[in-house]
Amino acid sequence: MVFVERLVCSKCSSNYRAEDSPIMCKKRDFGRLDIVYDYAAISNKFDRTTLEKREVRDVWRYEELLPVSSKFSVRLGEGGTPLIHARRLGEKLGMRNLFLKDETRNPSASFKDRAMTVGLAKASELQKRDVVIASSGNAAASLAAYSAAAGITCHAFVPQDASKGKIAQLLLFGADVLRCKQIKEGEDPTVKMMISAIDRFGYYPCPSFGPFNPYQVEGPKTIVYEVYEQQNWGNLDLILVPTGSGCLLTGIWKGLEDFKKLGFIESYPRLVAVQPKGNSALVRAVSQGLEFDQIVPEAFPASVASGLLDPYPWDGDAAMVAIRKSKGAGISVSDEEIMKAVKELAAYEGTFAEPSGAAGLAGLERMIEDGLIDKNDKAVVLITGSGLKEPEKVMGMYSEPHLIEPEIENAQPSR
Ligand SMILES: Cc1ncc(COP(=O)(O)O)c(C=O)c1O
Ligand SMILES: [Zn+2]
Repeated sequence: MVFVERLVCSKCSSNYRAEDSPIMCKKRDFGRLDIVYDYAAISNKFDRTTLEKREVRDVWRYEELLPVSSKFSVRLGEGGTPLIHARRLGEKLGMRNLFLKDETRNPSASFKDRAMTVGLAKASELQKRDVVIASSGNAAASLAAYSAAAGITCHAFVPQDASKGKIAQLLLFGADVLRCKQIKEGEDPTVKMMISAIDRFGYYPCPSFGPFNPYQVEGPKTIVYEVYEQQNWGNLDLILVPTGSGCLLTGIWKGLEDFKKLGFIESYPRLVAVQPKGNSALVRAVSQGLEFDQIVPEAFPASVASGLLDPYPWDGDAAMVAIRKSKGAGISVSDEEIMKAVKELAAYEGTFAEPSGAAGLAGLERMIEDGLIDKNDKAVVLITGSGLKEPEKVMGMYSEPHLIEPEIENAQPSR
């Protein structure tokens, strides 16, 4: 059963009926059709105790708070990822209560699977045969995986320098992949192509940007639901979120609001958006106290964090509200800080993240250095994507291991 009351455009406030399954605002104003639930009806259906008794461990565990019926779901085991108490890293940073939510464990190795299982379920409900996406790679790889499992064709527009691991996933999952050249300052050519393909071919849009698909926004909020369950409903002080378009942060905030409205939690943790210095329009806007419509897209985004390079934060409006209401912050970090975080996650916690996936830790360390954190805080760092997607970024930091004749004399321990 679905408990959606209505959808409301974030730009023009037009109301839409859930039964009409709208995807984009008819006014084409790039507003997100925010999904409004009937919380009173949901409250009658379940509480913390009924939730705890459930055996389903994937994203669909929280079906009442999702906008599509699970009978249309395509499932690959998304969600149910571990919350790891980072003891060694915590000791190094002087934080006893440091946790990693390891989203690299999702089926296509990034958190995007949470979004795409929901976005694709809606496509199945609407009996769509073709879906289209603009993405730096992770969301596209994820949509391609779910499309393959559903027998739907996935059309993906990715940047010209999309990483090999993500392209390999797309090819193998049978997506129709096109790499797009960036020619115009501040314009994302992948989004331009996606919009043209929606108009020309009538494909179902399913990028991980709210204005083009409101259903997928609801998937990533299950990250916070899980975190609260996993630490027995304790209070959290801080969640660090690697941020590109701001859709993930929007989802996290929505999840917190859901649980607050249902009375499952009492207070909000501070939400921190972490962006690379080479693409930090959203963070700049937050620190300069600008309004969302004053944001100018980054002319030529550049960073080792390839997943965080959306020149325009499509969901920045909601992300900014989330940061403001949760008394959070926007933090930008250098590529060096990001690669240091990649190394530390591996060396201290055995976790292999891609640079975009490790940016949250880089943000935490910056906040510690700048004295913006109480070290007793309970902090959750989202590790959003796996390092196996971009091994070239790691190999760039090392020389090739020695090639030896297989004699024990050649294997003197180095320490
Ligand atoms: C690994 C990884 N982390 C974080 C993000 C940021 O998500 P969002 O664009 O929703 O802000 C992305 C987006 O592609 C990503 O691939
Ligand atoms: Zn509108």
